Amino acid sequence: MHTVLVLGGYGNFGAYISRALAQDDNLRLLIAGRDEKKARRFAAEIGLPERQGIALDADVTSLARQLEAMAVNTVIHTAGPFQQQDYRVAQACIDAGCHYLDLADGRDFVAGIGKLDAAAHLAEVLVASGASSVPALSSAAVDYFLPEFSRLDSIRHAIVSGAKTPGLATLRAVLGYCGKPFMRLEKGLWKGVFGWQDLHRRRYPAPIGKRWLGNCDVPDLAVFAQRYPDVTTVTFHAGLGVPVAHLATWFFSWLVRWGIVNNMAEWAQSLHWISRRLEILGPQASAMHVELSGIDHQGRPLTRVWHILAGQHHGPHIPCGAAIALVRKLASGSVTERGAMPCVGLLTLDEYMGALVGLDIRQIHG
Ligand SMILES: NC(=O)c1ccc[n+]([C@@H]2O[C@H](COP(=O)([O-])OP(=O)(O)OC[C@H]3O[C@@H](n4cnc5c(N)ncnc54)[C@H](OP(=O)(O)O)[C@@H]3O)[C@@H](O)[C@H]2O)c1
Repeated sequence: MHTVLVLGGYGNFGAYISRALAQDDNLRLLIAGRDEKKARRFAAEIGLPERQGIALDADVTSLARQLEAMAVNTVIHTAGPFQQQDYRVAQACIDAGCHYLDLADGRDFVAGIGKLDAAAHLAEVLVASGASSVPALSSAAVDYFLPEFSRLDSIRHAIVSGAKTPGLATLRAVLGYCGKPFMRLEKGLWKGVFGWQDLHRRRYPAPIGKRWLGNCDVPDLAVFAQRYPDVTTVTFHAGLGVPVAHLATWFFSWLVRWGIVNNMAEWAQSLHWISRRLEILGPQASAMHVELSGIDHQGRPLTRVWHILAGQHHGPHIPCGAAIALVRKLASGSVTERGAMPCVGLLTLDEYMGALVGLDIRQIHG
């Protein structure tokens, strides 16, 4: 049995991951969070013994000892936001001799995880950060098309969500850079842009249609510039499912940029409440696309576009595919990589999609 502990296991994305992994006979699943009652209740809800729901705070100094005592083989850390976190959970996993995966979307957090590489190698464990839509899925899509390019010049990608409100940690993460400046690579130069600005619309394949988009600060902006050294442009945008929520976020970005509001993340709780009430106005469908441009092997310009489309509110399963697929690979012994790294090159597109079978989710390779 491979023991997997999902930290934040009854949270929004943690619950999707736990529900999927609870079906696997070769896994012993532990649902962890700071609230024991919620953990036990959720464990029972997904068919596990109640005792497999446990109280565990990511911040306790005894974390490594507790993981060791429970004989945990892999921790999936979903207890974000990661933007302001240090690497204490990953370090505790290394100390306890267990693998570590997280869903981090904090740019510096994911890009800097390599500082644990030597320790992770020594402990013979895998520490992978960003096991989620970005950069795990986005890089798998880039890698899928990469052999067709003799030179890859630009990667432009985006996610447009459906109406379902994500968890508080996600809202805190994405509001944290609302109206704040960050750098991205454009035509070979690092250019300053502002979170949730650059308002524009893009048409997605049916049934998605036209969606508003804005700038987001994600790990890919740093990680892709290193992983694909020819690339001179890497941009990432996101769009909220409810148009009025997207336009309000764009408006808030100006309040931050003008210095009227300090940090929109402080409003996350109230905006979470409002967003839940607006869900009725939003669509069930969501999507992600990755557009690559460059030169093919005959020296001709080449553009390839990959889409993943989800219906019936199944979009929130997509960020969970990486952790699910990687845990299954770790449990079966088919991941041999050790060390600490951003979660790129560890999963193919097919392996990622394998974790999402049975859902209303499809790809378009264009
Ligand atoms: N990289 C990507 O592409 C990507 C995509 C989607 C989401 N994400 C990230 O995924 C993370 C999770 O999002 P979510 O929507 O699932 O958030 P959420 O619903 O707020 O879930 C967070 C969970 O963590 C638990 N938690 C918080 N602090 C904790 C602590 N100190 N110790 C133990 N447990 C703790 C919470 O429960 P208690 O408060 O009861 O402890 C909750 O169950 C976010 O940071 C988001 O940015 C990344």
